[in-house]
Amino acid sequence: MVWSDKLSVGIRSIDAQHGILIDTVNELHDAMLKGQANSLTEPLLRNLVAYTRDHFSAEEALMAQANYPELAEHRAKHRDLTQKVESYIERFARGDIRLSVHLLNFLRDWLTNHFQREDRAYSTCMNASGIR
Ligand SMILES: [Fe+2]
Ligand SMILES: [Fe+2]
Repeated sequence: MVWSDKLSVGIRSIDAQHGILIDTVNELHDAMLKGQANSLTEPLLRNLVAYTRDHFSAEEALMAQANYPELAEHRAKHRDLTQKVESYIERFARGDIRLSVHLLNFLRDWLTNHFQREDRAYSTCMNASGIR
């Protein structure tokens, strides 16, 4: 996955955090290609969830600061996404699933769709409150 302007939400700090999320998914992809999937996947997935939680909190704080009217819905989407990734980790830790193209595609689609739809929707409101 490569960062591109198409993924930008127009807020510098958030774009930087999204870039780190993309890097983590790319590290998972590299681990899979190098056959290190099993030893590395769990720590990488745990990193991804931890960083995602921090990112979601930072983003929700900015939405609150901007009085973004869709904050409650956006927060619910964040909660849902976090639970999905956590359930992948549980299944991985139990040995029910392995790192796969399917999992990587899910993570990639999850990130790009969320950035381009839900996240981009708050840009105008945040910019109007002086958050850039
Ligand atoms: Fe978001
Ligand atoms: Fe985001």
